[in-house]
Amino acid sequence: MPISAPEPLLEISGLASGYGKIGVLRGIDLRVGVGEAVALLGPNGAGKTTLLRAVSGLLPRTGAIRFAGKDMAGASPRDTVQAGLVHVVEGHRVFTQLSVFDNLLLAGYGMTRDERATQVEEALAFFPDIAAKRQDRAGTLSGGQQQMLAVAQGLVRRPRLLMLDEPSAGLSPVLVDRVLAAVARLREGGTAVLLVEQLIEKALAVADRVYALARGSIVLEARTDEADLPNRLEHAYFGQDVNAPLSS
Ligand SMILES: Nc1ncnc2c1ncn2[C@@H]1O[C@H](COP(=O)(O)OP(=O)(O)O)[C@@H](O)[C@H]1O
Ligand SMILES: [Mg+2]
Repeated sequence: MPISAPEPLLEISGLASGYGKIGVLRGIDLRVGVGEAVALLGPNGAGKTTLLRAVSGLLPRTGAIRFAGKDMAGASPRDTVQAGLVHVVEGHRVFTQLSVFDNLLLAGYGMTRDERATQVEEALAFFPDIAAKRQDRAGTLSGGQQQMLAVAQGLVRRPRLLMLDEPSAGLSPVLVDRVLAAVARLREGGTAVLLVEQLIEKALAVADRVYALARGSIVLEARTDEADLPNRLEHAYFGQDVNAPLSS
C-alpha cells in the first residue's frame, strides 16, 4: 500500500442524483487514486448502485466529477467508457445464448479489430476458468463463471478504473474468493477499482480505503488498515455518531 496518497483519478464533490423527482444521493464527496482499490459499503437501499450509475452517466446528476483530470460532469455513458471508466453492473448480465468469446467481442464494440482481439485475449488470460470455455455458450457457465465473464467484459474496454457492483452476489464462498482475487490482481496490475460489496470483511481485505454510504450520504471514509475500523463501520451502519476524525 502506498504511504503517500496516490495521484487522484476519480474526484467527486457535491454530487447529487436520484430518479426523477426522487432524490437519493446528496453532497457526495469521494475520490479514487490512480491504481487504488476502494470499497463502497453500506446497507441495502443506501444508494450504492445509484452512485455508480450517476458516476458512469446512466443517471442525471449535479455536482463535480473529474476523471483523469478531465471534467466529466456532463459526460454520457459512452464518454465515461471512452475515458477509461468502466462500470460492471449488478447481476452478471451476459448474453446467455452467445459464446463466452462472442460476449467478449461484443464488449469491445466500436474498438478497432486488432485492438479488440488483443484486449479479448488479455481479458481471457485473467480468468483461466472461463478461457477454457471460450467456445461454450455463456448460459452453460456457473453463476461465478458468469460473474467472471461480466468482469472480463469490463476489462476488454481497458479501464483505468473498474467499478464493480456487488460482484459476489449469489456466489458460493469459493467463487466469491475467486472473483475478489481477480480484484486484487487487477489492483496489482495498476487498475483502480471501486468495489461495491455486501461482504464487508472480504471487501476490506482487498481494498486500500473504504467509504460507507447510508441513506444517500457518505458517513465514513477510512483507510482499511485503521485499527478502529470495525467499530467505526458498525457505528456507520447503525447510524450512530460517526464524526470521529477521518484518517488521511
Ligand atoms: N429505478 C428506481 N426508481 C426509483 N427509485 C429507485 C430506483 N432504483 C433505486 N431506487 C431507490 O433508490 C434508493 C437507493 O437504491 P440503490 O442505489 O439501489 O441502493 P443500494 O445499491 O445501496 O442497495 C432506494 O431507496 C431505492 O428504493
Ligand atoms: Mg445495489
